[in-house]
Amino acid sequence: MKHWNLEDIAWDRFDPSLVDPDIIPLVKAAAMVERNGDDYALYLHGVFADDPDFHAASEHWATEEVQHGDALGRWASLADPSFDYMSAFARYRAGYKIDVKADASIRGSRSGELVARCIVETGTSSYYTALADATREPVLQQVCRLIAADEYRHFKLFYDHLKRYLEREKLSHWQRLKVAAGRATESEDDELAFAFHCSNETEGTPYDHTRCITGYMARAMRFYQFSHLDRGMGMMFKAVGFSPRGRASRLAAHAAFRLVKWRQKKYERALDSYKAAA
Ligand SMILES: [Fe+2]
Ligand SMILES: [Fe+2]
Repeated sequence: MKHWNLEDIAWDRFDPSLVDPDIIPLVKAAAMVERNGDDYALYLHGVFADDPDFHAASEHWATEEVQHGDALGRWASLADPSFDYMSAFARYRAGYKIDVKADASIRGSRSGELVARCIVETGTSSYYTALADATREPVLQQVCRLIAADEYRHFKLFYDHLKRYLEREKLSHWQRLKVAAGRATESEDDELAFAFHCSNETEGTPYDHTRCITGYMARAMRFYQFSHLDRGMGMMFKAVGFSPRGRASRLAAHAAFRLVKWRQKKYERALDSYKAAA
């Protein structure tokens, strides 16, 4: 059972006068990545081939991720009626592929895979909370709050399976930390940049990773407040096996917040020069 459906959203409350134009490209790009959740479920099926409990859970998880894409895609089409969600997604699907036939995790073990999944859900849970807090548009606020709650439940789901696998695989804190740090830095890879390209640039425009990740990050990083990173860092610490509310987590959150602000300025300057050159 899903916790909500598209019909639960008050679409008729949409107010174009409250839309921040810089949020629209982010929502379009996020819709692509979310809708691709069913491909990740196929990959997870291969990695957890003999675990029917995990199969059932990951299928349900993927249904929710696809719904996140559909809710965001529908909102983006209200905010920008020229946006064709399904054709943008078809371009994304054609150009960005994950190995759905893998029979072992690219993270080296099943526990490693689950740590990586926890990090992804931490990132999405913090991000949609940040967007919900930043926007004054009531429909986007509702959509982002519903999605953020799902993402937090997804974190708990993968964390519960992680605890089960850690009893068998005994992954050390250090190994978990390496996976977590690796996955956290992948946010600037092609998954989001190419999603930004397919959903915001016209067909025929050549894909340029740097331009696209700049377009995405310069806008996305603006919306983080310290509270979002503090909560996210606690979740990451938990996935790695450290105390989520200790001094170390708080210090790491302060460092992450400074890093985000610094990188945001860097991306903002790069975005300004792309705009000036256009
Ligand atoms: Fe999601
Ligand atoms: Fe999720």
